[in-house]
Amino acid sequence: MKPIKIQLNENDIPRQWYNLAADLPTPLLPPLGPDGNPVTPDMLAPVFPMNLIEQEVSSERWIDIPEEILDILYRWRPTPLRRAVYLEKHLKTPARIYYKDESVSPPGSHKPNTAVAQAWYNKQFGIKKLTTETGAGQWGSALAFACNLLGLECKVFMVRISFDQKPFRKMMMGTWGANCVASPSSETNAGRKILAEMPDTPGSLGIAISEAIEAAVTDPSGKTRYSLGSVLNHVLLHQTIIGLEAKKQLKIAGEKLPDIIIGCAGGGSNFAGLSFPFVADKINGANIKIIPVEPTACPTMTRAPFAYDFGDTACTTPLLAMYTLGHAFVPPPIHAGGLRYHGMAPLVCQAIVEGLLEPRAYHQLRSYEAAITWARTEGFIPAPETSQALAAVIEEAEKAKEEGKEKVILVNYSGHGLMDLLGYDAYLSGQLTDYELPEEELKKYTKDLEKLPKAEMRKTGKW
Ligand SMILES: Cc1ncc(COP(=O)(O)O)c(C=O)c1O
Repeated sequence: MKPIKIQLNENDIPRQWYNLAADLPTPLLPPLGPDGNPVTPDMLAPVFPMNLIEQEVSSERWIDIPEEILDILYRWRPTPLRRAVYLEKHLKTPARIYYKDESVSPPGSHKPNTAVAQAWYNKQFGIKKLTTETGAGQWGSALAFACNLLGLECKVFMVRISFDQKPFRKMMMGTWGANCVASPSSETNAGRKILAEMPDTPGSLGIAISEAIEAAVTDPSGKTRYSLGSVLNHVLLHQTIIGLEAKKQLKIAGEKLPDIIIGCAGGGSNFAGLSFPFVADKINGANIKIIPVEPTACPTMTRAPFAYDFGDTACTTPLLAMYTLGHAFVPPPIHAGGLRYHGMAPLVCQAIVEGLLEPRAYHQLRSYEAAITWARTEGFIPAPETSQALAAVIEEAEKAKEEGKEKVILVNYSGHGLMDLLGYDAYLSGQLTDYELPEEELKKYTKDLEKLPKAEMRKTGKW
């Protein structure tokens, strides 16, 4: 039997991150400040430490991973690349399906890859405390884990609906010593304003980001910074260790490049982490179908306009050029909490504009159906976010069967669902429904974008 768990040892870990900004055929549009001019690194300094701002604006192709960060990552990295032979057999597909198992980290997802790096760089810069937002709680628990290891204080604003639906992640954060409150909270001006207008709001990542930024920049000691779990260039950079490991592992498995790469995308970080090292191959001529997947309830990449927009509801962040549902968008309370962000990473968006990626959306019920098939064949119970990607894996594997083609499919198994069993319970007892964002809602939320600077869709036309 061929190996189905392809392992690397500590010595094989990648020692540099890959920066797609160096290779994008058309460069990113710059983030803009309130005056409509590009922001300078100094303007970001109250929010992020300068060493991370340097990574954010870097156009170097390779960036060294400090040895001390690797020392922490060795707890679970390199992660296994597994072949989903049991699912392949069940589907009777000629496709070979590989999944990069990021669920083996202590918090249970890919998020600590950047949490550890961000906490480390902040500590180097003399910062004592980090604030952040979290949706499903994966990111909050990852940052709590990282801050604990690096001796930083950690404050997490957790989207209200997930705070109620997913109490276990809040307990994990407490176990790692972080302080987690439901957002909107009464602790910030942004939170109080929204609570006064919408006391029953389920919250959103946009609102929680506003609160976390406010809590960081108003600390009179100047020793608090904000940390973001996705979207920004440096976050995606830290996640590329996933794809770089996967490349080595596919080679060991005797594969050339994959035919299809799939990842779910909330802010884009796990998708980018797996796919960007392969996007580089596509830019250089490889024929790979690369699919970021999102929920139909939050159809950023598949239906929203490409525009300049704020990253948060209170309009405190710079304007980013991205596909966006509008910063005021409050998504319906679907269970894939980590996929409910109104925008998408600018690097992912520019790759979509170029035609390098083929985004796709699935309904909630379809993704739970895929999750159940996965759990009953492979055995592992996926996170609801990951299940969106698995819906695409099953669709592509079935297509390969119809076409009789031996496709190689690579997917990011971004997290386990052992803290998300209430969602499974709701699905299995028939309580979940599908939701497609109505066109009027989309128009209502994106109307405000007309007042902001226009983002030009620039592309070479090669893909
Ligand atoms: C398991 C899991 N996968 C995916 C995501 C989506 O985030 P991103 O698009 O940044 O990878 C999240 C976000 O919380 C998550 O918890």
